[in-house]
Amino acid sequence: MLAQFVTAQTTPDAKPITIGSDSYRMKSFVDALMKKMTLDEKIGQLNLPGSGDIVTGQAGNSDIAKKIREGKVGGLFNIKSVAKIRDVQKVAVEQSRLKIPLIFGMDVIHGYQTVFPIPLGLSCSWDMQLIERSARIAATEASADGICWTFSPMVDIARDPRWGRIAEGGGEDPYLGYQIAKAMVNGYQGNDLSKNNTIMACVKHYAMYGAAEAGRDYNTTDMSRLRMYNEYLLPYKGAVDAGAGSVMSSFNEVDGVPATANKFLMTDVLRKQWGFKGFVVTDYTAINEMIDHGMGDLQTVSALALNAGIDMDMVGEGFLKTLKKSLQEGKVTQEGIDAACRRILEAKYKLGLFDDPYRYCDDNRAKTEIFNDANRKAAREIAADCFVLLKNQNNLLPLKKTGTISLIGPLADAKENMPGTWSVAADFSKATSVLAGLKEVLGNKAKLLYAKGSFLDYDSLFEQRAGMFGKPFHRDGKTKEQLLTEALNIASQSDVIIAALGESAEMTGESSSRSNIEIPQAQKDLLAALLKTGKPVVLILFTGRPLAIKWENENVPAILNVWFGGSEAGFAIADVLFGDVNPSGKLTTTWPQNVGQVPMYYNHKNTGRPLGEGRWFAKFRSNYLDVSNDPVYPFGYGLSYTNFNYSDLRLSSTSLKGSQTLTATVTITNAGSKDGKEVVQLYIRDVVGSITRPVKELKGFQKIFLKAGESKTVSFTITPNDLKFYNSNLKYDWEPGEFIIMVGGNSRDVKSAKVNWSK
Ligand code: BGC
Repeated sequence: MLAQFVTAQTTPDAKPITIGSDSYRMKSFVDALMKKMTLDEKIGQLNLPGSGDIVTGQAGNSDIAKKIREGKVGGLFNIKSVAKIRDVQKVAVEQSRLKIPLIFGMDVIHGYQTVFPIPLGLSCSWDMQLIERSARIAATEASADGICWTFSPMVDIARDPRWGRIAEGGGEDPYLGYQIAKAMVNGYQGNDLSKNNTIMACVKHYAMYGAAEAGRDYNTTDMSRLRMYNEYLLPYKGAVDAGAGSVMSSFNEVDGVPATANKFLMTDVLRKQWGFKGFVVTDYTAINEMIDHGMGDLQTVSALALNAGIDMDMVGEGFLKTLKKSLQEGKVTQEGIDAACRRILEAKYKLGLFDDPYRYCDDNRAKTEIFNDANRKAAREIAADCFVLLKNQNNLLPLKKTGTISLIGPLADAKENMPGTWSVAADFSKATSVLAGLKEVLGNKAKLLYAKGSFLDYDSLFEQRAGMFGKPFHRDGKTKEQLLTEALNIASQSDVIIAALGESAEMTGESSSRSNIEIPQAQKDLLAALLKTGKPVVLILFTGRPLAIKWENENVPAILNVWFGGSEAGFAIADVLFGDVNPSGKLTTTWPQNVGQVPMYYNHKNTGRPLGEGRWFAKFRSNYLDVSNDPVYPFGYGLSYTNFNYSDLRLSSTSLKGSQTLTATVTITNAGSKDGKEVVQLYIRDVVGSITRPVKELKGFQKIFLKAGESKTVSFTITPNDLKFYNSNLKYDWEPGEFIIMVGGNSRDVKSAKVNWSK
């Protein structure tokens, strides 16, 4: 079987990265260094503790410093600032026997101090240059603060919105996920990792972490190899193809073996099939957690991890405490330890740390390169391009900057929540709330009134859990009735109501799964009361996941989904609300009607009993008694302040052979009165296969700009490569037959045509 896997995978886009010096020099250097290392020092390199008790100026006295001196630490993470990092690095390069520098990691997930939208939001831009730019700025800021390694990109495909970490990835589609992974790695690493403003990427969580059963975090994952190869693995491979320097193992099990001990994943797929040359770090205490998974004691699970292909142990110290014993008992090999140690040293070499361990410790950079005007401007622009206009009845949006506007909702004045989950380096006090953003953009052109209107949620304990990590919601002793009265009072004085509702930042992210994916009831009640006033209501929706908003879609005239837009979110929201920016984001996940439809994704199989299009229920078809099979919003969906008309699809041929090329062309016209951007999407259906094939799969997209009234022709070039999939022998190939080519502005509304492609 394995031989087939090895031949199965192609690495068409694999690209070598520049590492400052050639690999021969690196090998000789590491060879020479490793000759001097004791077994303990080698094992020490595999150890990645958290930053512990380090205080600036006191690093030398910390517990960690003792270990560093003894050569028991390979790197540290979640420590920031040049002063602290220099202090600790000094201990390593001046006081340890071999003076090996440390690598400094951090969760720089969607920006550093300048925070960009959460990754799910970024993905909705469908703009790879924009995504790369966000990662480039993040790398510049992080490296100016001493950091040389980020635990990003997170590229786990997720089809279950109950899973809180859906916020951290690029949505449900493997093709798009592949492109995003590449863009992020390119942004972080640039073309020379040894430059002091590039940082090493770490793609995570390898693998299939997003397929946790029932959307409950850390839960079991189980799927066929076909599904892995065709639907889940591609984004990780995208990062590897782009030259990501490291990979993080995931917490979940795969085929009954936790990923962290899974040799099939870590060695067969990652190294043998994809040709990955970097190092693999575990997720936080993932080795130790294998004890609870039921894989054995600490010594056993540590040996399992090393033997599977793990190089670095995050936090748990299983390697540090047990590998020597395991070597003596023949449970691991010297070659295994050497290989892991070599990969860590190579990473440090690639980062240029052996040339200059203080490469990322330039005192002056932080002052000018972090959270500067240019970066904030970029964050504002990028955020506005990620928002998705879900509904806009009678062109209620954009609003005019006149009259009296009331801004109501628990997320209206919640600046700490704007950066979203995983904004470790953000300074919340500098983030911009919706209220502040609107005030600035409106100036004195319109009167702006504000009221909180409701609690985040009626349940105060839930509210506390949803307000962790310095993002609390205060009740200020007010009752829900008082809050509502205040809101209705200002609503009655206004021409239009903007309701800032939805999830708080910590309602998604790690360990933030929900079994109810609706807007919390307290806010729904507020929204209903606001609608009752008869005033026009615009809902600006905060969320880190697809929400079930069927009722809202039916009853609220305008809905702008703003995710968590980052440090400049408030300004970006104002820019879009008042039409200074025309929204162009498109969803990268399917939005279900209710949680019972989950998992729901556009690229599903047809089944033997599909429900006819436009139908709700038919007995003995694949459907529900109580809800149609439709989503509220399909994958790829998003409106604009203008309208785009698609011509019929034109194909260069309807009968092709072998390696011929097909061109699919549409003309798109901006039929409205505003300039705007449109994401033109290409989908293909392989009608008959040796295994069942999805009803459609994204195979290309182009984001275009059209002036009002302008038309543009968009062409997609399709080759047999685009028709390939993994068959039941896991061979990556295409099969002749009929294909339906579809082009449209979302996955549902497409123009289509058929072709026949023979071998
Ligand atoms: C998360 C990772 C993260 C790591 C280090 C873990 O709990 O799963 O995504 O990189 O912590 O902070």
